[in-house]
Amino acid sequence: MKFKEIKNNIYHCGLNDVNRKYFDELIPLEHGTSYNSYLVLGSEKIAVIDTMYPPKAEEYFNNLDENNVSKIDYIIANHGEQDHTGVLPEMLKKYPEAIILTNPKCKENIMEMLLIPEEKIRLIEDGEEVSLGDKTLKFIYAPWVHWPDTMFTYLKEDNLLFTCDFFGAHYVFNDIFANCDDELYKGAKRYFAEIMMPFSPMCRKYVQMIKEMNPEMILPSHGAIYRDCKFIIDAYTDWSSETGKNLVLIPYVSMYNSTKEMVDYLNEKLNQKGIQTCLYSVVDGDLGELAVTLVDATTIVISSPMVLSGPHPMIVGPAYLVNVLRPKAKFISYMGSYGWGGNLFGKLGEFLSNLRCEPIEPLLVKGKPKKEDFDKIDKLVNSIYEKHKELNLM
Ligand code: FEO
Repeated sequence: MKFKEIKNNIYHCGLNDVNRKYFDELIPLEHGTSYNSYLVLGSEKIAVIDTMYPPKAEEYFNNLDENNVSKIDYIIANHGEQDHTGVLPEMLKKYPEAIILTNPKCKENIMEMLLIPEEKIRLIEDGEEVSLGDKTLKFIYAPWVHWPDTMFTYLKEDNLLFTCDFFGAHYVFNDIFANCDDELYKGAKRYFAEIMMPFSPMCRKYVQMIKEMNPEMILPSHGAIYRDCKFIIDAYTDWSSETGKNLVLIPYVSMYNSTKEMVDYLNEKLNQKGIQTCLYSVVDGDLGELAVTLVDATTIVISSPMVLSGPHPMIVGPAYLVNVLRPKAKFISYMGSYGWGGNLFGKLGEFLSNLRCEPIEPLLVKGKPKKEDFDKIDKLVNSIYEKHKELNLM
């Protein structure tokens, strides 16, 4: 495949991966994903920015051959995760003169994870510039979006910013330039939800920095290249903000329909009050959808029956995911049904210890919900309504 030119001797040499079904063996990928790699032909030196996921190595190297890339001077590792660095050992064999330019944290990671010899790595400082002749690479450390080793590479003369995972999207494409449509928005949001949301404060910092840099293009290492940088900057500004939407997420599981009856009643009453809801069945739901909803939800109501004196095991994994993704939700409550006893909410609370949510009175029902229980759900609905109103969400 012939590489597509982005501008002035800068080429896209990445690949789509339409067969990948899960990312991190966790988030289902509806259409697959993509790994971008960029070739920069300077007048004196040739650089590649980020490389490739190992299962795509053969195709990647064949493409480099087909495009007559016989020499690489620098390989820029913006981040050590293997979807961008996994082929480095093979690449160093193919291009023995190449030196990896990276930061100390990434150096440590690629040495540990890929057994890259230390002499093949040159450390660069934050803000350091490396000349390719008529082009200059400037490195900007950007730790914690999403690993401690993440950084951006800025191509000064062309005003291009290579952000690796930051602004990435689970998205496959033929045209390398983003058609900023709903499909891309969804892919970028799904990516943000899993990868960036736990680091929202750092995202806010770098979004502001990039806004001020005003690059001509943003070139992430997943998804298409943004010529309309405002599209992704505005989306990240919204997703990483501290303010949620008028939305209640209700992850639930039910065995004999008692918990489901409560969930359905809660859902209906919230909707009647003008509050949006997302019911998430943990048995057959898509964890990506759960994560995406967490980007916007202001309130979470986790609902589960008691199983052997604690929460139903199927709710435990999603609760753990909610906890580690550190969403912006401000309020949390629980509902559940039991037969003979146990500690349902205490245990769920332990799984959710990262959340800084104000608790709203939970509701535990013996067996099926009755009139007084539905009255309590009405109270829960009113509490959520008042709290969303106080935040000017409705
Ligand atoms: Fe796309 Fe953190 O790797």
